[in-house]
Amino acid sequence: MDRIDYVIKLGGSAITNKDTPLSPNTEVIESIAKELASLQCRKRIALVYGGGSYGHFIARRYLENGKISSPQGIAETRSAMLSLTKKLTDVFLSQGIPIFCINPSSCFILKYGEPEPKAFFLKLILKALGAGLVPAIGGDIVLNKECTARVLSGDTIARMLATELNAKALLFGSDVDGILYNNKVIKEISKEEMKRMQSKVSGRNGDVTGGMAGKLKEVDKYLSQGGELSVIFNLTKLGVLTKILKGQEVEATYIRSHHKGVG
Ligand code: IPE
Repeated sequence: MDRIDYVIKLGGSAITNKDTPLSPNTEVIESIAKELASLQCRKRIALVYGGGSYGHFIARRYLENGKISSPQGIAETRSAMLSLTKKLTDVFLSQGIPIFCINPSSCFILKYGEPEPKAFFLKLILKALGAGLVPAIGGDIVLNKECTARVLSGDTIARMLATELNAKALLFGSDVDGILYNNKVIKEISKEEMKRMQSKVSGRNGDVTGGMAGKLKEVDKYLSQGGELSVIFNLTKLGVLTKILKGQEVEATYIRSHHKGVG
């Protein structure tokens, strides 16, 4: 199977202004694009982006028991994500990044919370990479077998891609420096500590897909499915992403399947 270097989740908290409906954080989107453009050696990267003040804002008006049944609600959530997709595309292109956005709602349905057919989805991403594009997959509102729809979090998509494409690392960019506990960044969480941490970390108001606790759940799954490294970091701070991609240590939360320096 082809391997990729990194799956990078661009958290909605970083690329949008979470407190203002339908509002992009253009400055952050632009600096991400600039950092990726100035990397000296081209990496095989898949981007995944969250809904922030676009998808979450609309979805939470219609969400009932984890689902959206209202056709109007499904269509409006879709439309909000399309607006964010367009914004991301325009800014990345203006910085010379050949972004290729893929909308999950247009290429699969959900079965037990996972996309189907998965193989087609993965093939599409690999083909995009082969064509020299930078694939970017959005969190989305996706139809399921029962003909209702669920919000598919970008965190789940990122974990699935990192696992299936055997990424070197799964990176979660947010608007904070990592997992915070008593206002301090936890520098490292071992695989064994993951379950305990998940119960301590709480979600963000208005986030319909689980916030930091949801991220930890995905990281836990990723490590248990063979993943080696996940980093939760601040995407709103200039240069942090570049340092991570260059293999330099930053202030962030590192979650490794093995203790550093062992084995
Ligand atoms: C949510 O994606 C997508 C929709 C609400 C349609 P995420 O759950 O990945 O979004 P963020 O990163 O938390 O904003």
